[in-house]
Amino acid sequence: MSAPKKLFIKTYGCQMNVYDSERMAEALGGEGYVETKSPDDADMILLNTCHIREKAAEKVYSELGRFKGLKAEKPDLKIGVAGCVAQAEGQEIMRRQPLVDLVVGPQSYHRLPEMEAKAREGEKVLDTDFPEEDKFEKLKNRPKAKRGPTAFLTVQEGCDKFCAFCVVPYTRGAEVSRPADRILREAQDLVERGVREITLLGQNVNAYHGAGPNGDMTLAQLIWELDKVDGLERIRFTTSHPNDMQDDLIEAHGTCAKLMPYLHLPVQAGSDKILKRMNRAHTAESYLRLIERIRAARPDILISGDFIVGFPEETEADFQATLDLVEEVKYGTAYSFKYSTRPGTPAAERPQVDPKEADDRLQRLQALLTTQQREVQDSMVGRDVTVLFEKAGRFPGQMVGKSDYLHAVHVADCDRAIGDLARVRILSSGANSLAGALID
Ligand code: 5AD
Ligand code: SF4
Repeated sequence: MSAPKKLFIKTYGCQMNVYDSERMAEALGGEGYVETKSPDDADMILLNTCHIREKAAEKVYSELGRFKGLKAEKPDLKIGVAGCVAQAEGQEIMRRQPLVDLVVGPQSYHRLPEMEAKAREGEKVLDTDFPEEDKFEKLKNRPKAKRGPTAFLTVQEGCDKFCAFCVVPYTRGAEVSRPADRILREAQDLVERGVREITLLGQNVNAYHGAGPNGDMTLAQLIWELDKVDGLERIRFTTSHPNDMQDDLIEAHGTCAKLMPYLHLPVQAGSDKILKRMNRAHTAESYLRLIERIRAARPDILISGDFIVGFPEETEADFQATLDLVEEVKYGTAYSFKYSTRPGTPAAERPQVDPKEADDRLQRLQALLTTQQREVQDSMVGRDVTVLFEKAGRFPGQMVGKSDYLHAVHVADCDRAIGDLARVRILSSGANSLAGALID
């Protein structure tokens, strides 16, 4: 038997790309590829790219340039670009970087085996279609490798919201929900491979409306079906849009024990003028009332968010409204970005904010968010939480896991194994994690 070919995948961007990279590795696994951690001994390099902000795409081009020497040494090395930059730029990538043999969009990666074969014959191959067939179904029945205790599971893809700054509706396409039975089968399979916690993924996950036995199901109904899966202990989902936060999902946060008390609910900005121009179709006030209702259902829930500063025509007063909203919500975690012009999106044509001003606002917002994050983390000290252990710590006998609230927790003198859940008393709060002790 010939030696296995080696595949190096580098993943940029969101959790869905992490999930997609796993699926691509499985697809090429069927063609005799095994993954390697180093590009130097790879027979195929795949960059799974992100197009959400400018720097992400630029990083891909500079990374590709670095493979020049490698390709000169190893002419058989194949280099592919996958993901959202592949979708958005397609042929342009091959023009700009002749090293690239293969370009595959996020909806076509189940076709990778055929593409790889063509690339091996010296062809340049590009597939950025939105095909009819179900890529997830094409990829099932791969070997059942053991898994770690946490996994992502894509339930919904694409977005119909068309926020004025965002490329997702163009790169990932229209909103599509997977049928519930397929998701449940995949969840069952993950659990059989050792997974205890599943994060349901979708660009607009709470708009989920996949086919179920009695018509379309809501995300909450899907969560209740997953709740019945023996051996699955925790359910999370990301990312949600405020306008799709339905009553049954809010209620599930109060009643479904497996659904974790953590919600990523981006608001982007606190000024109604800016929200309107962003095409968000909600106001700051409606978002705040929504958070109130979610907290009424689950008072200890940790709220996470995304923010954009320096959106076209954002004034200092508009920015102040974002700070005010942040003060009111008190975020446990948050991601904040400077607005990045995305060609082809409506906001790209509008008057831009001075970049220095935007930098300054980003710094001020991040300072506030960091303080809040720290306060929420510190408030865990003295409390008892459940921890799912994910790996051994740096010190002998130490284990590291995640609390229900997604805080990293270190536990010394810990006799539990990876994949175990245990009650832990939080003793102290460090820079980016908590430390605690097992309760009996
Ligand atoms: N510029 C800056 N941030 C953006 N995001 C999406 N598009 C842009 C853009 N053009 C941010 C939003 C979104 C997160 C995934 O990325 O905050 O919620
Ligand atoms: Fe992009 Fe999210 Fe808006 Fe959809 S809802 S357009 S993915 S920011």
